[in-house]
Amino acid sequence: MRILHVTDIHVERAPGVGELWNKRLAGAVNLYLLGRHHHFSPKAQAALIAATAAIEADVVLCTGDLTATATDAEFAAAAELFAPLRARDWLVIPGNHDVYTGESVGRFARHFGPVAPVRVERRGGWDVVLVDVCHPDWLSRGWLGEGGLAALEAALAGGSAPALVALHYPLRSRRGERYGGAARACIDAEAIEAICVRHPRVRLVVHGHEHHGFRTELPRDGDPIPVIDPGASGYAFLPKRGRTAHFCVYEVDAAGLRTVERYAFDGERFVSEAGGPFATGG
Ligand SMILES: [Fe+2]
Ligand SMILES: [Fe+2]
Repeated sequence: MRILHVTDIHVERAPGVGELWNKRLAGAVNLYLLGRHHHFSPKAQAALIAATAAIEADVVLCTGDLTATATDAEFAAAAELFAPLRARDWLVIPGNHDVYTGESVGRFARHFGPVAPVRVERRGGWDVVLVDVCHPDWLSRGWLGEGGLAALEAALAGGSAPALVALHYPLRSRRGERYGGAARACIDAEAIEAICVRHPRVRLVVHGHEHHGFRTELPRDGDPIPVIDPGASGYAFLPKRGRTAHFCVYEVDAAGLRTVERYAFDGERFVSEAGGPFATGG
C-alpha cells in the first residue's frame, strides 16, 4: 500500500475585525504584523495540489493544520484547495490551528467531516489509527485524555493487523528526546507512546506540527517504531532560511514500512528530495 502524507498547509485569510476578540488577535499580530504569514505561500499550496495529483497512492493522509486561525473563510478556502485530494481516499485529522479558538470548535467537522479522539480505518490490510488530540488552548497544548487513551489502548488491543498511528503533535523531538515543554506540545505524549510501544502491531507513527520535518523512532526492544514528520506542506520557498514545503509517500507491506520518499518544493514544483528523504534537513 502506498500512503501519501501531507500536513500543515496553513491556508490563511486575514480575519475580520469582528473575529479578533480572542486568541486570534495574538495570532493575527503574529501573522500579519510580525510577518509570519510570509512563511506560508499560496504558490506552494497550489504546487502541492498539482504535485500530489500526479502521485500514485492508495490513500491520502493529512495530519492537520489545514488553516491558520480556523475562521470559516480559511476552512472554505482549504476545502476548495483540497478538493482534488478529498476526491481520493482521504483521511484527515485536525491540527491545533484548526481549533484555534473556542468559537471555532465544530468548524473542522462541518468542512472536513466528523472527528473522534480515536478512529480506526482499515486500508490495504493495515489499521490506520487516527488520533485527535487537538483542543482550543491558549498555550496550544494537545491532549488525548483518560477516555481517549483507553480508546487507543482498546483499538490497538482489538486487532492484529499492522497499524499506523497518525496524530498532529510529535511524540519525540528530532533528536529522539521527549518533545516539547509547557506549550505547543501534547501533554500526554508519553502515555500515547507507551501504548504504541506496548503493541507490536504498531509499525509506523506519523505526525505534523513541527514545520521542519524529521524522522526519528520510538525505542522498542530490537524493534523500534519509525516516526515521520514530512514538514509543513504549505511552506513558502525560503532557501536563505533553509525552509521549503515537503510531503512524503510511504510504501508499507505486511512486515512494516518499506520505503519513504520525500518531495520538496523548489520554488516552482515539488521534486524528489536530493540525496533521499531528509538528506537536505528539515
Ligand atoms: Fe502547523
Ligand atoms: Fe500545529
